[in-house]
Amino acid sequence: MTVAGRLAQIAEIGRDCVRGGYSRHLFDSTDAPLRAWFRRSGEELGLIVEEDADANLWAWWHPPAGPAGTRSAIACGSHLDSVPGGGAYDGPLGVASGFEAVAQLQAAGFAPHRPLAVCAFAEEEGSRFGLPCLGTRLLIGSVDPASVLQRRDAAGTTLADAWRDSGRDVARIGPDPERLGDLEAFVELHVEQGRDLADRGVPVSVASAIIPHGRWRLTISGEGNHAGTTTMDRRADPIVALARATLAARDVARDAAGARATIGRLRVVPNGTNVIASRVDAWLDLRAQTDEDVHRQYGRTIERIRAEVQAERCALDVHQESFSTRVDFDASLTARVAAAVEPEFGKVPAIPTGAGHDAGILAEVIPTAMIFVRNPTGVSHAPAEEASEEDCEAGARALAAALRSLAGAP
Ligand code: HGY
Ligand code: MN
Ligand code: MN
Repeated sequence: MTVAGRLAQIAEIGRDCVRGGYSRHLFDSTDAPLRAWFRRSGEELGLIVEEDADANLWAWWHPPAGPAGTRSAIACGSHLDSVPGGGAYDGPLGVASGFEAVAQLQAAGFAPHRPLAVCAFAEEEGSRFGLPCLGTRLLIGSVDPASVLQRRDAAGTTLADAWRDSGRDVARIGPDPERLGDLEAFVELHVEQGRDLADRGVPVSVASAIIPHGRWRLTISGEGNHAGTTTMDRRADPIVALARATLAARDVARDAAGARATIGRLRVVPNGTNVIASRVDAWLDLRAQTDEDVHRQYGRTIERIRAEVQAERCALDVHQESFSTRVDFDASLTARVAAAVEPEFGKVPAIPTGAGHDAGILAEVIPTAMIFVRNPTGVSHAPAEEASEEDCEAGARALAAALRSLAGAP
């Protein structure tokens, strides 16, 4: 089997014929087939597959035994969900590479001296309920399950109802200190979401850091009215206010080194062709080099947006949906991974990323590291995301070398 072969097994699950690419979200119609693929992939390798109380999947090669908290287990993996119209690699490449790395180690006669797991964490993108890395945040206890369960998707379904409808027990969700107590380290392989490796001409790297990012929901309210009978001087049009606000967010980000601002998701009410909207919800994604930089960028952005909205005689309401703090990966684990891949790949670079990952959330409680696989175009969160078969196989070999080093004889 190969990484490409494993990805081909899920290639038809969640294809989005409107947006292109894939739309795979927590507990939607793609969730069960993807979980079934995960289970099959693990069982074919003789792994013990289980789902934890937070809907995260674990495929164990020698599950942890004995007293909890021995911190002996090594885990790898990523996520299977996507953004709307996402690429084929963001998430699944890390899970497929985990299974492929285990297969290679088994074929080489490697016997792990520690429990070793391949994982797939729930709702990493936060595309359905708005909270990125939902599964790992619940697992480590960094979010309150009761508040999370009240979150609603675009159709108004609460996470609690979706959880129950999926046949799972809502009462069980929450932190799992025993499971975390078994973990010594986590390594996430991921397609690079940028062009650094392509520009350097190298197939794999390790990661140095994840820059912080926050998400806010902006609600701009105006006066719904008739598109034909309302003269331009008598309008309070939230879409015009949003246009001015978007340019303001863009300008603030442009003026701050390394900052990014995106408004990529809208909900217009009532969304009629011949209607001046009464309200628009817009989701603001801000990123910068440090937590303080994001908070400062947020303050400046909201100040500018408030002025633009008022200038259009509209009102603004702001609700923070999530904040992901900066992560500097564990230096000794990252050095260990880099040393393990050096015989085949030489000294690999350690590069920062602007994309969030479950490895960033787990870094709050255990040492984590990442391996990036070259993306020739650098495009991600879009159907054009790609990685060559050759580089995907290289990534699996790099992950196998890392797991051999981490789970091998001391
Ligand atoms: O939004 C992110 O950075 C990640 O892909 N969830
Ligand atoms: Mn992503
Ligand atoms: Mn991802």
